[in-house]
Amino acid sequence: MAPAPEALLESRPMSPPLELQGKHIVLGLSGGIACYKAAELTRELVKAGASVQVVMTESAAQFITPVTMQALSNRPVFSDPWDARAPNNMAHINLSREADAVLVAPASADFIARLASGRADDLLGLLCLARPIERCPLLLAPAMNREMWAHPATQRNVAQVVADGGVLFGPAAGDQACGEVGDGRMLEAAELRDELIAFFQPKLLAGRRVLVTAGPTFEAIDPVRGISNHSSGKMGFAIARAAAEAGAEVTLVAGPVQLPTPRQVRRIDVVSAQQMFDAVMPLAPLHGIFVATAAVADWRPAQAGTRKIKKDGQAAAPAIALTENPDILAAVAALPAAQRPWCVGFAAETHDLLTHARAKRVRKGVPLIVGNLGPATFGRDDNSLVLVDADGERELPAADKLTLARALVAEFARRLPSSAT
Ligand code: CTP
Repeated sequence: MAPAPEALLESRPMSPPLELQGKHIVLGLSGGIACYKAAELTRELVKAGASVQVVMTESAAQFITPVTMQALSNRPVFSDPWDARAPNNMAHINLSREADAVLVAPASADFIARLASGRADDLLGLLCLARPIERCPLLLAPAMNREMWAHPATQRNVAQVVADGGVLFGPAAGDQACGEVGDGRMLEAAELRDELIAFFQPKLLAGRRVLVTAGPTFEAIDPVRGISNHSSGKMGFAIARAAAEAGAEVTLVAGPVQLPTPRQVRRIDVVSAQQMFDAVMPLAPLHGIFVATAAVADWRPAQAGTRKIKKDGQAAAPAIALTENPDILAAVAALPAAQRPWCVGFAAETHDLLTHARAKRVRKGVPLIVGNLGPATFGRDDNSLVLVDADGERELPAADKLTLARALVAEFARRLPSSAT
């Protein structure tokens, strides 16, 4: 039976899930000034629900003390292969057998060189070598001076470690502790946490290209005023993030919102519906999936004044003539089959959600419409959705928008024709 959409909004959970709940991470620190970020990273991982076992090299202990890392991880730190605390005296085996991943942050040039040649001359190197390679991934967050990063020896070592199955998080470009600017900076703690969360997501959209529109549009009346709406863009940004986490190449065309760009997402900022249309139309044939979450203004002032409309001397309020904006979703859905991505529309309604969503799906010519009650959800971090396709309706129960976005991505992957890229 079709769900009563208004009822979907009741009793919503307010906070997102602990995204690393149940994950056990061995956090390895090799020597580098970026060790200071490892303290915050530990907190971020623990806050996200992970248990964290810190393993430090001798050089790392020159930069940050094991006391700090023990306090933050709530576990004794390991650094010595001869540590007698392990009852079988095999810390390197025990630590790597329990881990869902080994994350080395910072990974110094020297540590990467040792990994590349399979050395095991300290506990961290030893456990990386001894880990069960099939089920315990090795993740590296390089951190070093830009010349060290660019050096052919480092690049050769990095390529070898990646060929051996290692995964790189970063490095980023920017200001370095030495005062130079360039590649080699370790990602920030929150970025590394998000990389790790993304790493654990199933790669349901690997090899696909996804185009998403998000946010409101703003239609200028004059240089200081305009028509817009309450869309926050959060749902569209969450879908872009979830699609990228699922392994897709994602392009996000965003109306005027202040949200941060999700990791690994290419973002194009626009203001008006016409600009959104102009950005989307040439991109659509290059993508296999098009998800239109934007709350596009249906109308715009027919003439946007180049000068501010002044109140002085006006006998009556100015009449603003409106003209219709292009329908971006309908235009993409009407592309010739060879150029047309698989299209998903959203329906934000104030009432009769299902009736409107069904009609909209047919009118726009798209295989799937995702319905929600607009004003109740604009700007919120949670939502509830109903999926409407040719076979009927399906409810996605109330949850935070990222959880819903991941559920939507799974729905897209399940319904996609195999020909979609
Ligand atoms: N949409 C679009 N371009 C427009 C208007 C809407 O791409 N000019 C897309 C939205 O991104 C959404 C879907 O069409 O995916 C439905 O948007 P909505 O505003 O709910 O529907 P409208 O077609 O504008 O119909 P109405 O305003 O009558 O509900």
